[in-house]
Amino acid sequence: MLPGNDINSVNDYEHHTIYTGSIREVIHQRLEEVIPKLELGYDEAFVVGDLGDLHRQHMKWKTLLPRIEPFYAIKCNPDPMVVKYLASLGVGYDCASRSEIQQVLDAGVDPSRIIYAHPCKQPSFVRYAADNNVSLMTFDSTEELHKIKRIYPNAQLVLRMLTDDSKSQIRVGLKFGAPLDTIKTLLITAKELELNVIGVSFHVGSGCSDVRAFADAVDLARNVFDQAASIGFQMKLLDCGGGMPGRNIQHGITFEDVAATLGEAVDRLFPPNVRVIAEPGRFYVSSAFTVCSHIIGRRVLLPDDSERKQYMYYLNDGMHGSFMLRLLDRDDLNLRVIMRNGTHVYDNENEKDENRFISSVWGPTCDPKDCLLKDVRLPLLGVGDWICQENMGAYACAATGFNGFEKPKTIYTNSFIRSSL
Ligand SMILES: Cc1ncc(COP(=O)(O)O)c(C=O)c1O
Repeated sequence: MLPGNDINSVNDYEHHTIYTGSIREVIHQRLEEVIPKLELGYDEAFVVGDLGDLHRQHMKWKTLLPRIEPFYAIKCNPDPMVVKYLASLGVGYDCASRSEIQQVLDAGVDPSRIIYAHPCKQPSFVRYAADNNVSLMTFDSTEELHKIKRIYPNAQLVLRMLTDDSKSQIRVGLKFGAPLDTIKTLLITAKELELNVIGVSFHVGSGCSDVRAFADAVDLARNVFDQAASIGFQMKLLDCGGGMPGRNIQHGITFEDVAATLGEAVDRLFPPNVRVIAEPGRFYVSSAFTVCSHIIGRRVLLPDDSERKQYMYYLNDGMHGSFMLRLLDRDDLNLRVIMRNGTHVYDNENEKDENRFISSVWGPTCDPKDCLLKDVRLPLLGVGDWICQENMGAYACAATGFNGFEKPKTIYTNSFIRSSL
């Protein structure tokens, strides 16, 4: 595949061919290759993932938040190549289940670089963590403390405190996090059970739009450290959770904004002997993946009250494929036409001022909710044209496979290799 040009494969990594071009170059080449044989089974939707984008994000993290060790939240995108690549860069992991822990251990990550960041764990998963020396884990209730005492009394415990997540797209505070007025009781119970509480964690929610949420949470964490000291715990770990935005966000705060506020708050309130980690998910992966799909059907409508036609387009990827959590996030989709009538139009078509029609875009399944966009104005498209959606690396992993439509396969590139030559 993709022979004979400057995005040619450079190596095999974990049994995958890795190209070196940009995502656009790889898409262009892939379409060139498949167009002549679409009906022979080459008309599947596909994803292009750029490991180089992860690499550059990692460098940005190290530059702007040098004190805070990233533990990648694998739930955000457990793609095995992502997990192995970030592991090779020295990133740690936030895991929330036995199979996530197993995947990370299988990637060769040392157990000390994993935090089991789920405050309400299945008992057999705690046993698995104990058997595999994954000792760092969170809790937010006395029940969890008793469970851990029974199964893994030597675990290193991190108290997940509740913080204001009202500025986030995905709010997690309803489900997890100990309110401030319960913290003393939790710490006293942990002391009575002779458990080892070593730190505090928080999570401002995913898709956070206000940097103050991070600073306020660090402030609260300081308060918890002080309460813990009065009960006899000398805490030494602060975990700042996730919620840091990815590259290319359309609106809201940038990672630079978060880093400036969070880094300053941490340095001001916590001495250098406190180890500081975080659990970024979307920061690492969101811009690294682009999903490409193919228009497999079209219906033309002529509403009674209009002389203008409207169009319904059916793609071969949708809500039950790559777009499930993306739609739940209520993030704006920005579908881009990349091939029209067999011509590549990635760069120019979308800005062109041309006749546009009211259109809707649907996924391929029989589920009537499987609709990606309603009432958008699109140029006239046809069966066989291709569309892509950029910034699809975060939380695109919840495909159900409903109706037998499989999640698109990923082609990998690493644009960092070429840019660093
Ligand atoms: C505990 C925890 N940490 C980290 C994350 C990652 O969040 P994000 O992808 O917004 O960085 C999540 C996701 O919701 C989470 O629940």
